[in-house]
Amino acid sequence: MKETIKKLTECFGPSGHETAVREAILAELPRGLETRVDAMGNLIVHRKGKAGGWRLMLAAHMDEIGIVVTHVDARGFLRFGNVGGVHLLPLLGGRVRFADGTIGAIGVEKTDDANKIPGMEKFYIDVGAKSPDDCPVRVGDVACFHRTCEERGSRIVAKAMDDRVGCAVLVHVLKDLKECPHDLYVVFTVQEEVGLRGATAAGFSVEPDVALAVDITLTGDTPECAPMAVSLGAGPAVKIKDRAMLAHPGVKDWLLRTAEASGIPCQREVLVMGTTDASVIQVSRAGVPSGCLSIPTRYAHSPSEMVDYGDVQASVRLLLGALAGPIDIG
Ligand code: CO
Ligand code: ZN
Repeated sequence: MKETIKKLTECFGPSGHETAVREAILAELPRGLETRVDAMGNLIVHRKGKAGGWRLMLAAHMDEIGIVVTHVDARGFLRFGNVGGVHLLPLLGGRVRFADGTIGAIGVEKTDDANKIPGMEKFYIDVGAKSPDDCPVRVGDVACFHRTCEERGSRIVAKAMDDRVGCAVLVHVLKDLKECPHDLYVVFTVQEEVGLRGATAAGFSVEPDVALAVDITLTGDTPECAPMAVSLGAGPAVKIKDRAMLAHPGVKDWLLRTAEASGIPCQREVLVMGTTDASVIQVSRAGVPSGCLSIPTRYAHSPSEMVDYGDVQASVRLLLGALAGPIDIG
């Protein structure tokens, strides 16, 4: 499974440009599943259930944050805007990668106050061009942050862990799932980071009875961070609420009960910022009981997002347990 995480996190896939990720996921999926790609680019994988089973949707997003070129100047330097929630602090000295493999170094203009973080308009990208004519990229081209996936002990650090780790979890759930009475729709969504757009469409086409997102959440276990009752390595987190969703209490309890019955460590997540695909699936059609299983992640939305491998493996086990029997959401 570490291989899957490495492969998927190193893929190029800023929002709206998820093709490489989708192809990597398709190559990893077990045989014999129905797959289709919808008009937005969501990959919808169907595993048929039995009579009496529920129609269950599991979603993880394929896209990652990135940048989009807004201007190429006379000397070939690029100005850029954000694709999704890009933090300014980690930009300087970072590198980006375009779809064709072009690497750019991120620089910044001189500043009057070295203690103040300049706005994004003060940063630029240097791809080694000397003029617009020899510049390999154009206005509108997008890039992801350029980092390899590395591990030490049980920790894995990579770009785009948000949410390729969720994609990897769902790929392995599909690989390892044996008995499952439910009609399972595993959706690898597009454009989450720019407003949950892929899941919005997929929620309507799949028409689930119940839905779960698998995504990352923040932690409260690093120096001087905002307090939060989630730690790296203490198990996956069952979402209670985030900025845009109150998890369905029955769905939340179903996951917590499964964890307890199977002896899987898990945490309770209350996230004050951010949300997941589950928030829009929940309010699709006439409403869908929805929840979220979260993988604790340090340094979210930076080029070095860190997870604990034990949490990732426990997430797969918890989902396998939840899917094996009847769903009771009260
Ligand atoms: Co995100
Ligand atoms: Zn995410």
